[in-house]
Amino acid sequence: MLLELAAQRQVLFVGGKGGVGKTAVASAVALAQARAGRRVLVVSTDPAHNLGHLWERQVGDREVALAPGLDGLEIDPARTTDEHLREVGHTLRRLMPEHLSREVDKHLALARDAPGTHEAAVLERIAEVLESSDHDLVVFDTAPSGHTARLMSLPETMSAWTEGLLRRQDRSARFGAALRGLDDDGAAASIVGTGRRRDQRADRDQEIRRILLRRRTRFAQLRDLLADDTRTAFVIVLAAERLPALETIELYGRLLRSGVSVGALVVNKRSPADRGEFLARRRAQEQVHLETVREALPHVPLLELPLLAEDIVGEPALERLAGEIARAR
Ligand SMILES: Nc1ncnc2c1ncn2[C@@H]1O[C@H](COP(=O)(O)OP(=O)(O)OP(=O)(O)O)[C@@H](O)[C@H]1O
Ligand SMILES: [Mg+2]
Repeated sequence: MLLELAAQRQVLFVGGKGGVGKTAVASAVALAQARAGRRVLVVSTDPAHNLGHLWERQVGDREVALAPGLDGLEIDPARTTDEHLREVGHTLRRLMPEHLSREVDKHLALARDAPGTHEAAVLERIAEVLESSDHDLVVFDTAPSGHTARLMSLPETMSAWTEGLLRRQDRSARFGAALRGLDDDGAAASIVGTGRRRDQRADRDQEIRRILLRRRTRFAQLRDLLADDTRTAFVIVLAAERLPALETIELYGRLLRSGVSVGALVVNKRSPADRGEFLARRRAQEQVHLETVREALPHVPLLELPLLAEDIVGEPALERLAGEIARAR
């Protein structure tokens, strides 16, 4: 069921609480899709990456081949933020009068630690990866729940923010034009210097507008992609325990409110029923929490994956997990 869901999509987000098996499930689904002949990219957006550990190789902020048809990438939020701010600084310095460049530096230093800056930078990087990727499927292995839900609602927030800036810019451009109109009527317009300053200001306004419009288009496209359940699916991985079950229900609601529908729930690490009394009791306990989720979200497909004897490290182990995913109901 999960593999069918992935087979029909271009983008898959895998989210959930820490340690539940997001990276393992994302990688196993990606591997299965690559084996089925699609070109797949698996991207980790979690600052605490473990894609590299799982594949037993170095993965960084540049695509590396993990298996035939499968590439991997770890987005580095700190580096992404630095690059993002460097680019913003470059643009601002070019557009602002020179005597304000100290102000620009101060503003950017503050922005680095402001809430949301990392997420915004990661979001830009996600948009960039999706725009430039030539893969048939991109699987995002995301950070634990809260972070992801915020990330999913960011395109909306940022479009609104950009929209506001554009409106303000429109108003100030009109205001500027009116002032220039006054200039034109007065003798000052005949002074060459004033004319040049006027042109510079008009160019600058144009450029700011172009930058804002480009960002608005980018975020609107990303938002449309995330909200389009024929192209994108979100999968929540969880353990059948009390808190993960409750958090899953909450995450589902938050995603829904930001326009993202959840395509499947994966209950990972189910205890076996036939390996002694201790594990059988655990399984019975898990069943209670699983029922809570089923009752709260009756329409969302749910599949269960067994607790495996060994850690999932390396391609053969991921293949075993992919086999379990193919068999699961
Ligand atoms: N079905 C399973 N059976 C046994 N071990 C599993 C199973 N699924 C995942 N694991 C193990 O659980 C641990 C956590 O898995 P994984 O790293 O995929 O989780 P995660 O949700 O990505 O964690 P994080 O939030 O830290 O990124 C790993 O050691 C992994 O090998
Ligand atoms: Mg992980």
